[in-house]
Amino acid sequence: MNVIAINGSARIGGNTETLINTVFDALKDADIECELVQLARADIHGCRACWGCDGTRNCIHHDDAFCEVFEKMKAADGILLASPVYTGNISTALQAVLERAAVVCDMNREAALLSRKIGACLAVARRGGALNTFDTLANFFLLQDMYVVGSSYWPIAYGQMPGDVAHDEEGLTTARKLAENMQHLLRACDHHMGA
Ligand SMILES: Cc1cc2nc3c(=O)[nH]c(=O)nc-3n(C[C@H](O)[C@H](O)[C@H](O)COP(=O)(O)O)c2cc1C
Repeated sequence: MNVIAINGSARIGGNTETLINTVFDALKDADIECELVQLARADIHGCRACWGCDGTRNCIHHDDAFCEVFEKMKAADGILLASPVYTGNISTALQAVLERAAVVCDMNREAALLSRKIGACLAVARRGGALNTFDTLANFFLLQDMYVVGSSYWPIAYGQMPGDVAHDEEGLTTARKLAENMQHLLRACDHHMGA
């Protein structure tokens, strides 16, 4: 079983990455393969509304990293979307990925590209907009016929400068619980598919 995390932060080694790694540590302990996709160095534009992806199962524009990221999403059993709060919502880079992924899925509905995968979300804020950001991420999964994992609280954490989030004990505990629940659901789905 494998999980990919997409880090929407513009900062490598920032708070969002710390929170992802908290989830990854718990998943790896449970022998789940984890891969981190960083959008910080990627130059991904939004959907061009060309509808050229009808029947193609990926975007037809290969001029940036999107196609590669979407192939990883299709190949994963679980997807962890993580974003810092930027102006009250998810980062533009992650929005571009989700916008294009949603259109490709919509134009290829019969292929059920992300159906019944397991989705989890993380949001990191300095002060405001975390729940809004979490909602945006969760709504992507709900639109894609996926299962969304909960935790003991909404999986959000607080911090501004890199490393700050490591002091948000409640945020870290919530992330660990999220990992535990992801693991349970991944195993349950794997068992069901194999039965
Ligand atoms: C462009 C930009 C916009 C931001 N907007 C908000 C905001 O609306 N609310 C908030 O609480 N923090 C905001 N922040 C702060 C970040 O969410 C915070 O520093 C977070 O820890 C960054 O995560 P990172 O270390 O993974 O980059 C913003 C930061 C940037 C760079």
